[in-house]
Amino acid sequence: MLELFPDTAAVDEAGQLTLGGLRATDLAEEHGTPLVVYCEETIRAQARAYREAAPEALVVYGTKAFPNVGILRLLAEEGIGADVSTLGELAFAREAGIPPDRLVVHGNNKSDEELAAARDALVVLDAPDELDRARNAGVERMLVRVTLGIDADTHEAIRTGHHGSKFGLTEEQARTLIERDRGILGLHIHVGSLLRDAGATRAAAAALARLAATVDGWQPQVLDLGGGLAIRYTLEEHAPSVADFVAAVLEAAPPVPQVILEPGRSLVGRAGVTLYRVGAVKETGAGTTYAAIDGGMSDNPRPQLYASRHTALVAGRAEAQSDGVYGVAGKHCESGDVLIESVELPSPRRGDVLAVPATGAYTLGMGSNYNGVPRPAALLVRDGNARVIRRRETVADLLRYET
Ligand code: LLP
Repeated sequence: MLELFPDTAAVDEAGQLTLGGLRATDLAEEHGTPLVVYCEETIRAQARAYREAAPEALVVYGTKAFPNVGILRLLAEEGIGADVSTLGELAFAREAGIPPDRLVVHGNNKSDEELAAARDALVVLDAPDELDRARNAGVERMLVRVTLGIDADTHEAIRTGHHGSKFGLTEEQARTLIERDRGILGLHIHVGSLLRDAGATRAAAAALARLAATVDGWQPQVLDLGGGLAIRYTLEEHAPSVADFVAAVLEAAPPVPQVILEPGRSLVGRAGVTLYRVGAVKETGAGTTYAAIDGGMSDNPRPQLYASRHTALVAGRAEAQSDGVYGVAGKHCESGDVLIESVELPSPRRGDVLAVPATGAYTLGMGSNYNGVPRPAALLVRDGNARVIRRRETVADLLRYET
């Protein structure tokens, strides 16, 4: 089970889960729950794995996985840039000091304001009229995102390379743009997220090479092969290593001066553990026993959106034998707000801290204030020290927007 957790996760002599040398129960006590604890070493190790697997490539973090200045700063120290897709994400990346030559700007519906704000960055064109709009906004470096009819084997909501996707241009549209402006630097693909093998990205990379060969007198200088590498959420799931995935993708890509990779989930997903406090524990008429937690779909909507599965550990009794199968219910006013349908646990009881691994990506970043629930805090832990990298929202924060 610990392999789903960050690199520094351990169980101490008292049977307590520790992260970055700190007991999860102490972190929960001091900082409150829900709490997302990020392990600095794991983030750095994942960043290094990408840099080692692709030493010549520019690696940019898919900021949407968790837009956070503290994490972007860490990644910047490791030589990683940022893929951003809104003014907000761009502001986070700039605040973290990501230089313009390591910024890739996406969006299937960029506003003029967004294009102007991105004028010193690499902008990925995603609509036929965006070339002129980007040039008018002062953008100089551009790629064209193409959608080549590749069906990645992942949840349909996060598949992006198929015909019919709202992202990217058709081959024909892309060719037209490049024929109009041979200053376009290259092409971009991103076939989807939560990819458990490199097959779809490899197929898209090969198709890119064929497309490039059909534009007379133009050679791509840059190929951006997107992100997508999965992580394991449960022991039953598999995911390739960064080294294997990147090697397979690069092998299929045609030689170009500059390759760009855009990992999000695989940089920060396993680094994050969400801690919840267990409240009510009750058996339903159908026999399921639910342990209810103090969060749920407002801090992790992935079970509802993608039918994702999670597992959990009772942090204070990390090695105790499980005595049954439990559901983990969120606190929101919907029957669908169940974080985990079934997980073996050692009699969860009120006050226990439940640790849910592999929750560093697309959890807080997709959090909401549903039911008027303030969003949790995030911490970065390392060598026995914890630092708040996202403050906990308060109910007063929520009221600030009311008039
Ligand atoms: N590049 C582009 C253009 C993207 O749209 C994305 C993610 C990435 C890179 C990073 O992909 P990653 O390496 O994280 O798979 N909320 C969903 C995932 C949405 C992915 C959106 N785009 C989830 O929780 O599964």
